Amino acid sequence: MRVGREIKVSGPLGKFTCFAHPAQKLLMISAGSGITPMMAMSRWIVDTGADCDIVFFHSARSPRDIIFRQELEWMSACQPKFRLAITITKSESGQPWCGFMGRLNESMLSAIAPDFMERTVYVCGSNAFMAEVKILLEHLAFPMQNYYEESFAGTKQPKQQPSPSVQNLTPAPTPAVKSTPSKPTSPPAQKLASTAVIFAKSKKEIVCDGKDSILELAEQEGIEMDSNCRSGVCGTCKQKKLAGEIKYEDDPHGLDHSDEDEGYILTCIAHPVGRVVINA
Ligand code: FES
Repeated sequence: MRVGREIKVSGPLGKFTCFAHPAQKLLMISAGSGITPMMAMSRWIVDTGADCDIVFFHSARSPRDIIFRQELEWMSACQPKFRLAITITKSESGQPWCGFMGRLNESMLSAIAPDFMERTVYVCGSNAFMAEVKILLEHLAFPMQNYYEESFAGTKQPKQQPSPSVQNLTPAPTPAVKSTPSKPTSPPAQKLASTAVIFAKSKKEIVCDGKDSILELAEQEGIEMDSNCRSGVCGTCKQKKLAGEIKYEDDPHGLDHSDEDEGYILTCIAHPVGRVVINA
């Protein structure tokens, strides 16, 4: 990056927000960089003076790894309705710690939020962390309609296998070989595949069975497409659909209404239904 360089950023997106589910008591549970949405929600509540009681629980590897530590401690000191609890999973020499140690468990949960059953719970962290928290809450008969989680890590890895069939849409150059003249015949009628993704700019048609996402199909054929979360959250993989139908395997959180109106789709979670043309 150089001073003066312009970059394009998208606005705030997503549905992991306490704004959509008003509640007077919240329990925010995060690990590692999963703290970021919790911090955004907490700042908003504190800045607007919303009448909301927050228990903010965060799990970090070591005291040195606690993100936003100073700001959290400041909020906890100034706001009577903001209670902070941090656990670390690894002690390190030279970093004194007298808070919680280890992973969240039933006794820790009861200590930090004895009234957790009355709270709306937001969880963000690695998939393994979220799974542990969810199992714990389910085991404690927590009303799961008040439970919201967001994975920021993405659950899927890019696939490497080649797709079933690729057609180059530009005619291949004719090899310079001599052949015996034969009777002119009419070209065989080409049957269009019923399910395929046509990448208009790359001039490739990928015949498929609809099981792979459009992003996966593109990657298998070396068509460059940006991606990040691979779970429909960040919006990085959005591309314009020029024709055809797709179906999503999850809600497209990373698209706003104007994107959808303009025909953009999230290719990481979009699967072709029939023949689909993408502007990529
Ligand atoms: S890669 Fe993030 S929404 Fe598709």
